[in-house]
Amino acid sequence: MSKRIGILTGGGDCCGLNPAIRGAVYRAYDFDYEVFGIRDGWRGLIDGSIFKIDLQDAEELIDKAGTILGTSRTNPFKVETGVERVINTIKNYGLDAILAMGGEDTLGVAYKLFNEYKVNVVGAPKTMDNDLSSTDFTFGFDSSVTRAVEAMKSLEDTGKSHHRVMILEVMGRYAGWVALYTGLACGADWVLLPEEKPDIDEMCKQLQRVYSRKKYALVVVSEGVELPGTAAGQEELDHFGHMILRKREIGQTLGDLICEKTGLETRHAVIGHMQRGGNPTVFDRILGLRTGVKAVELIEKEDFGKMAALKGNKIIAVPLEKAIKDIKTVNKEWINFAKIFFK
Ligand code: F6P
Repeated sequence: MSKRIGILTGGGDCCGLNPAIRGAVYRAYDFDYEVFGIRDGWRGLIDGSIFKIDLQDAEELIDKAGTILGTSRTNPFKVETGVERVINTIKNYGLDAILAMGGEDTLGVAYKLFNEYKVNVVGAPKTMDNDLSSTDFTFGFDSSVTRAVEAMKSLEDTGKSHHRVMILEVMGRYAGWVALYTGLACGADWVLLPEEKPDIDEMCKQLQRVYSRKKYALVVVSEGVELPGTAAGQEELDHFGHMILRKREIGQTLGDLICEKTGLETRHAVIGHMQRGGNPTVFDRILGLRTGVKAVELIEKEDFGKMAALKGNKIIAVPLEKAIKDIKTVNKEWINFAKIFFK
């Protein structure tokens, strides 16, 4: 039976979204579905901002970062009459199902709409933070880490010449996956993750040890780390209640601390939103395509309230409820693994 489906992308953009849209549109074509793009995440359903998407609109998306649909951090449950307007738009456009591409916030809204308002939704797992449960990886993560590793290579070049400690501050919010993978992949001498209370003395000893061998040292710090002097709870919050972390200047604070405690000349750089653009890696392109395709297959089977997830090498359906329950943070096993390389 032919269907009308709406696709939206919510939360921070990342590499892999456009490939996922491509996957969804191409699979929808097989089922003879009409596809509509919803502008700027849930905001598009609140405002009734929707447009038709054809195969040719998706044709050249495979290597494009960002999202052709636009995105926002709008939470309809926080907007007066937001949910009512979402439901009206779905009815007015005769949408049989919504495919929401997002992280725990966007998919949290999707689950609430499914559970409390019986809206037919399915999800695809995106976020550079890789902190979504029930999937091994989210698309966006691999490209972000790749960008950060490239940035650290440049810092290493200059750090070596000037004999400095070089710090790279990366995003990732409350999960340290981006910092951990970046640190391991670029051979960093210390990594600070939000999951662990920083041991500043231990870190300084290690940096001095490393410095005495190679005359420079590399540190990766996650934006979500708590350092002495960065009191939690005073930050601005977004629509979903998350701290806006970029204002905390963790890299700068850490650099000052290292310099004060070790006397080593230290510089820092913040890669910030550059981690979300550029060329999607092959991994993110393929994961985007696969999850986009699977999500439409879930719609075809009317298997709603599910998210397409990567488990091992398979794309499977997992309940949205499970995916959004807790965020996936770096566990002890990974932390101990990383410590092997701090000598
Ligand atoms: O969730 C993705 C993310 O890039 C986080 O790593 C970061 O803290 C946040 O979004 C930044 O949000 P914004 O794009 O609103 O500044």
